[in-house]
Amino acid sequence: MKFSNPANLFLLAISASQVATARPSKTYTEMYRPQFHFSPAKNWMNDPNGLVYDDGTYHLYFQYNPGGTTWGAMSWGHASSRDLTHWTEHPVALQARGFPDNITEMFFSGTVVIDEHNTSGFGRRGKTPWIAMYTSYYPIEQVLPSGKHIRKDQQAQSIAYSLDKGMTWTTYDAENPVIAEPPARYQDQVLEFRDPSVFWHDATHRWIAVVSLAKLHKILIYTSHDLKHWDLASEFGPANAVGGVWECPSIFPLSLDGSSDVKWVLMLGLNPGGPPGTVGSGTQYIVGNFDGTTFTADTDSIHDGGAPEGSVIFEDFEGEKTFAERGWTATGDLTNASPAKGTLAGQNPVTGFLGEQLLNTFLNGDATTGTLSSTPFEISHKYINFLVGGGSNTNETAIRLKVDGRTVHTSAGSNSEGLTWQSWDVTAVEGKEGVIEISDNATGGWGHINVDQISFSNMRATNNVANWLDWGPDFYAALGFNGLPRDQRTVIAWMNNWQYGGVIPTDPWRSAMTIPRHLALKTIDGKAALVQEPAGKWKALTRGGRVFTFRRVDGGIRELGRLGKTLQIELTFARDKSSTFGIAVAANRDYTSETRVGYDFSTQEVFIDRTRSGNVSFDNTFASVYRAPLSVGADGTVSLRVFVDWSSVEVFGGEGEATITSQIFPEKDAVYGRLFSTGGSTNDVKLRVKEVDSAWR
Ligand SMILES: *[C@@H]1O[C@H](CO)[C@@H](O)[C@H](O)[C@H]1NC(C)=O
Ligand SMILES: *[C@@H]1O[C@H](CO)[C@@H](O)[C@H](O)[C@H]1NC(C)=O
Ligand SMILES: *[C@@H]1O[C@H](CO)[C@@H](O)[C@H](O)[C@H]1NC(C)=O
Ligand SMILES: *[C@@H]1O[C@H](CO)[C@@H](O)[C@H](O)[C@H]1NC(C)=O
Ligand SMILES: *[C@@H]1O[C@H](CO)[C@@H](O)[C@H](O)[C@H]1NC(C)=O
Repeated sequence: MKFSNPANLFLLAISASQVATARPSKTYTEMYRPQFHFSPAKNWMNDPNGLVYDDGTYHLYFQYNPGGTTWGAMSWGHASSRDLTHWTEHPVALQARGFPDNITEMFFSGTVVIDEHNTSGFGRRGKTPWIAMYTSYYPIEQVLPSGKHIRKDQQAQSIAYSLDKGMTWTTYDAENPVIAEPPARYQDQVLEFRDPSVFWHDATHRWIAVVSLAKLHKILIYTSHDLKHWDLASEFGPANAVGGVWECPSIFPLSLDGSSDVKWVLMLGLNPGGPPGTVGSGTQYIVGNFDGTTFTADTDSIHDGGAPEGSVIFEDFEGEKTFAERGWTATGDLTNASPAKGTLAGQNPVTGFLGEQLLNTFLNGDATTGTLSSTPFEISHKYINFLVGGGSNTNETAIRLKVDGRTVHTSAGSNSEGLTWQSWDVTAVEGKEGVIEISDNATGGWGHINVDQISFSNMRATNNVANWLDWGPDFYAALGFNGLPRDQRTVIAWMNNWQYGGVIPTDPWRSAMTIPRHLALKTIDGKAALVQEPAGKWKALTRGGRVFTFRRVDGGIRELGRLGKTLQIELTFARDKSSTFGIAVAANRDYTSETRVGYDFSTQEVFIDRTRSGNVSFDNTFASVYRAPLSVGADGTVSLRVFVDWSSVEVFGGEGEATITSQIFPEKDAVYGRLFSTGGSTNDVKLRVKEVDSAWR
């Protein structure tokens, strides 16, 4: 869920008055309407809530504004499916109290459990109670029917029950909220306490609820015998990525490598501070153990990130000196220039640099050009590490290492203002004299470079501050189904991002859910990692199946022609001379607009490039490239599975150890596709393309 503030409540009043204008879609054929992903017929949706499986039916509740297409009047919407593919939307399950014009309580994120043993006593006439535990958000100060006094903007944990298998719900007004406040030591966090996730812990015969102290990057673990009375058992955090609030935490067990060794996984949303190269929200996980009261992280699931300890800093661009005064030979527009204090006029926010300053050649916008050459230095360590951002074309903007006048390494940004670590392995030239050259030779379209913290070390710097469940921009608030066997853990995430979620160009709905994904825990590179597999009855939805095989694809482009707008693609290939290889999808006839899904052999990363994916203009961070680390398979090939819908692309790399989820808003005739092999040829290319039918008809 999203933290609200008075400005949101003002918007709420406006959106509530739009109730009458949003018309539901009967056909699900509007422009950008997802065909095989769940989206509500109309109005705003965010986090999945209360995922629960019962007797052949999967229930999906979700954060929903019944009053409009932006966040507000948060309620629980409801849909169900028998195959995780075809969904039926039901009436709102929990509607904001006082909706539309006098809202006193909203229903923020939470979960549903089936209380088979009637521990809550809510059962009646032989009917098993279902319990929803959620965050009550109270926009006004009030005294509740339970007699509890509530502050304005307080967030507290409440319950509701259903005796008709989740269709209608009764809030437990006699006692709500059942966890009114965080423990006394966190009293000041009473407005930032949310998103309970509940499950039955068989070994201790108790209910467990995991709740977030969002701004402190902590989760609190509570236990209960009846879902009504809760005792604080432990806390965990902060750990790993803490670049934004922690939301929607959950913990669950999984077998490691299918063995009897069971690990526990903590999964949680982070907003902002998502994966490298993204702006806004993301989802991380930590592998560890849970003994019924306490979650303990495995040490190898905890990351420090950043420059290795003991690095020798060559240049950090701090202090009041021009480039020339700090020993760089500066040419062109950089001649009398100095490092920048962060973001420059007209630029999107620059993130990821250290300290107060960095080299940023957006001095006079992209018009600035010039070169900086360092004083010569002896190459004394195995690696040169540095932070770099900005343009990705190394012909235009680059940082280079020159030895004896010859360029031995070249790097650039990735068309993002976010700086990330890159490393050069310089063992081959150790002991020699090197010069670092940074050049900006471009005047438009990402024609600038950002650099910081050039340093020497015997270890590579790492961008890993987290285990990312998905490396794309549109995967948030992931939640698993209660009621499934342990190793059938299936999660759904909100396929949107708080950075631009409220302005995506869809109407009369906003937001879709990701494809449901089955999770497993596998040892990869000596570490327990989550791997994902699309869940659902895909065979029934896919048809056709064109197969293309090429022993070799020459450098350049190979047209594939019309592929369709809803696709399931399997692509495998092996390295030859190319630096990147992949498939462009959702392209218009002349390829002026396309979305590239591919693999970068030089960095061993799978990527989605949506810089030219169609409408990217509604948010100035949207046109970007997203990357996930993926090793080449043991047989020397790379395999990618790609799902393309009318407004999204999801890629699963390898065995599902790397996924990227990305919304796109393509042109009307975006049915074309082509292969690209950049910098040379690619071998043993096998491509299978199936069209996916609409799940709504
Ligand atoms: C809003 O609802 C509260 C609680 O039901 C009630 O006390 C209050 O009078 C209502 N205000 C308006 C303006 O209707
Ligand atoms: C559940 O507990 C309540 C309260 O003790 C009781 O009235 C009810 O009969 C119980 N069981 C069922 C299945 O209704
Ligand atoms: C960079 O320049 C080389 C040589 O002119 C050219 O072959 C290559 O296509 C250029 N790369 C890009 C990304 O523009
Ligand atoms: C910079 O661009 C100009 C004009 O396109 C070109 O003549 C020059 O060789 C380029 N310099 C470098 C270092 O690439
Ligand atoms: C892109 O989407 C925005 C937001 O909905 C809209 O205002 C704009 O007109 C769209 N641009 C194009 C070219 O369709």
